[in-house]
Amino acid sequence: MTRHHTMKVVLIALLVSALTFGTCQDFEAFARIHAPYLRFHHTQGQDGYCFPHNASDYYDVRKSGDPSRQCNLDYQSVKDGLIPTYWHAQICGYHMHIAYWSFYGYNHKCDLASGERDAFWESIVVKIRDYDLDPRLHEVRFSQKNGWYTRIPGHYELRDGTHPVAYVGKASHGFYHDDGGTNTCCYYEDTRNPGDPNQYMETWLNLVELQNGTEDWMMDPDTSVWGGLQVPTLRSDFDLCHLNGCTGSHTQICGTCGCSKSDIGDEPF
Ligand SMILES: *[C@@H]1O[C@H](CO)[C@@H](O)[C@H](O)[C@H]1NC(C)=O
Ligand SMILES: *[C@@H]1O[C@H](CO)[C@@H](O)[C@H](O)[C@H]1NC(C)=O
Repeated sequence: MTRHHTMKVVLIALLVSALTFGTCQDFEAFARIHAPYLRFHHTQGQDGYCFPHNASDYYDVRKSGDPSRQCNLDYQSVKDGLIPTYWHAQICGYHMHIAYWSFYGYNHKCDLASGERDAFWESIVVKIRDYDLDPRLHEVRFSQKNGWYTRIPGHYELRDGTHPVAYVGKASHGFYHDDGGTNTCCYYEDTRNPGDPNQYMETWLNLVELQNGTEDWMMDPDTSVWGGLQVPTLRSDFDLCHLNGCTGSHTQICGTCGCSKSDIGDEPF
């Protein structure tokens, strides 16, 4: 081979690897740029009201036969990026959908009697429109309790211009686009008022991709570990291209009524 040919081969190899590599890099880069900024109630971390938890730690504890309550009350662990947020991305037509999952070891009662459980997952999904040519963060889908709703730009807050802000319900840990809540079990009433301590989580500090092979628990179908729940990886809503905008009543009632705050109704997300 002449020197000229060798150069050509090297250049083509570089180009091919840049293109292939570029795609995976994009997923991660987009995930980091648009990872949510979580805001917690001012008494989160007290009296058994937990912060997010490392799912792998929880899994190991349960698999070892230890049934004790697992509740992360350590705000510093959340603030310092020691607790992971799990994510995965999918291309749906011209758009990129990225889901972020928080895990909690324990949900407190949402009134004096009900709502308590071990192990809970909550998700936020963002849509980046035209991710390839003119990427723009657009719809954000907030999940809470057994439902969800979707907001369009201007109808949710942003942190540093790129990170959707989510307020976390104190007891059941749902994600909401706003603060408030009157401290009952009704759909929008889980309390979330950050107040003075301003406890937050920059989820982009610790993102772990949900996929086969990252951590053992991610492909384990054993629901007994998670108090009867399936891991996100094995749920039907793991397919981010077939989500809809909301669930539940279109008028605000105490029961599931995600559609009453959805900007796109229950249209495809
Ligand atoms: C979560 O816990 C596991 C098991 O202790 C540990 O290996 C892992 O590093 C932790 N993950 C993160 C992202 O901190
Ligand atoms: C996960 O990956 C392993 C090893 O590549 C493979 O054997 C297994 O079938 C995969 N599981 C699923 C559910 O895709």
